[in-house]
Amino acid sequence: MDNAGIKRRIVIKDDWPGYSLDLFTYPEHYHDDIENIYIPHGVIMNRTERLAHYIMDDFRDDNIMVLCVLKGGYKFCADLVEFIKILGRNSNKYLETRVEFIRLKSYLVGSNDQSTEDLHIIGCQDLSFLRGKVCAIVDTGKTMKALLKHVETFEPKMVKVAGLLVKRLPNMAESLTDYVGFEIPNRFVVGYALDYNEYFRDLNHICVLSRTGKMKYKI
Ligand code: HPA
Ligand code: MG
Repeated sequence: MDNAGIKRRIVIKDDWPGYSLDLFTYPEHYHDDIENIYIPHGVIMNRTERLAHYIMDDFRDDNIMVLCVLKGGYKFCADLVEFIKILGRNSNKYLETRVEFIRLKSYLVGSNDQSTEDLHIIGCQDLSFLRGKVCAIVDTGKTMKALLKHVETFEPKMVKVAGLLVKRLPNMAESLTDYVGFEIPNRFVVGYALDYNEYFRDLNHICVLSRTGKMKYKI
C-alpha cells in the first residue's frame, strides 16, 4: 500500500459511455429508466475501501467525528465508516468513530435535476461536539463551502472532507474535498443513495438516467 502523500483521484472522462445495462444486475423496476451503469457498485465499494486507507494513514491516533450529509451521503458514509472499522480491526489501530447527521436543503429549487447553491443546514444545528476534535465530513459532492464555514465556527482541531463524486466544472476552483472517490463530468447521476425526486436511492450502482426515466419521475 503506498503512502498517504500520493492521493490519486480517478478521473472519468467526458466521453465515458458507461457500461451496457445487460452486463450487470439492477432492480427490474428501473429497467427503462436508466441509460447505462456509470460506476458499478463493486467499483464504488473498492474505491471507498481505498479512501478508508488514506483516512487511516492521515488520522493516525485521533478519533474521528464523522459528519454525514443526508440524504445522498448515507450509503457512502456507512460504507466508508465500515471500512475504517475493518481496517482498524485488522491492524490493531482502532479509531473511535462517532457519526452525526445533517441535511443540507436548498429551499428555492431542488426538484428534478436542478439544485441551487443556496444551501441551508437543517437537522443537527449544534455541532459543538466537534470542538477540539478531528472531523471528517462525508458527502457525495455537493457544494461544501457553506457547510465548511459552519463547521469551522465550532473550532474543530482538523476538518477533512470525503466526497465520493466531484463534478468537473468549467472554472473549477480548488476542490474543498480532501478524499475524492471519482472526478466525473458535470452530469446528473443517480443511485447509491443519490436521487432524482426521491427515486433511485435503492439502486446500488451509480447510473445515468434515460429520457424515459427523466420523464417518468418528473414533478
Ligand atoms: N444526482 C443526484 N443529486 C444531485 C446531483 C446528482 O448528480 N447533483 C446534485 N444533486
Ligand atoms: Mg436530491
